[in-house]
Amino acid sequence: MEVLRQRSSVRLFKETQIDESSRKLILEAAIRAPTAGGAEAWHFVVVESGEARIRLHKLLLEAHREYFTKLMKKAWSDEKFESWVAGSGSEYYLAPLYVAVFADLRERVYNDPRIEEIWAHQSCAAAIENMMLAACGLGIGSCWFGVPLLLEGELKRLLGVNDPELRLSAVVGLGYPKSEVRPRPRRKGLDAVMKII
Ligand SMILES: Cc1cc2nc3c(=O)[nH]c(=O)nc-3n(C[C@H](O)[C@H](O)[C@H](O)COP(=O)(O)O)c2cc1C
Repeated sequence: MEVLRQRSSVRLFKETQIDESSRKLILEAAIRAPTAGGAEAWHFVVVESGEARIRLHKLLLEAHREYFTKLMKKAWSDEKFESWVAGSGSEYYLAPLYVAVFADLRERVYNDPRIEEIWAHQSCAAAIENMMLAACGLGIGSCWFGVPLLLEGELKRLLGVNDPELRLSAVVGLGYPKSEVRPRPRRKGLDAVMKII
């Protein structure tokens, strides 16, 4: 509960690298997640150095542009997004470590592809949350990025992931937080989202 209460999405990171042992613990936490049918239908691409990391950050900014200016019902204007980027926006989402998480459907074990895909993505989601909580326990901040789904083809090319049966779930950004992490209160209390029968 301590870690659950401390975690909050971090979008501004220090440049400090995450050492190998912490990275290993975080990825180990990922594969400790529950996995539908024991299929372990997940695949992780770790990006931590050089050109790929910078290109991934650029793609994240572009994907957020799509999100803010097109996907949202109350969309931002292009000018608003540009002025946000020109301000502090361009520093957002630049993490020392990214983990791209794919639902791995290369080995089908069920007769219903729809259910298989949902379960693979749900297993990935559980792995993502495990990574984020493990990171939090190590003092490492994280953010779950769903927006790369808007540019999945580009992301796969960037990562050299060619197989159509590897489907993007999300990208997780990880790093030491630039400022104090303050958990965000929830808009909806438990009573609003739960019933007991
Ligand atoms: C499926 C999913 C997709 C998300 N995608 C993004 C994203 O693309 N960019 C981003 O900045 N945050 C993203 N988030 C983080 C949420 O915005 C964040 O969890 C939410 O605002 C609650 O804040 P908290 O995590 O600090 O409690 C995503 C979270 C989830 C679960």
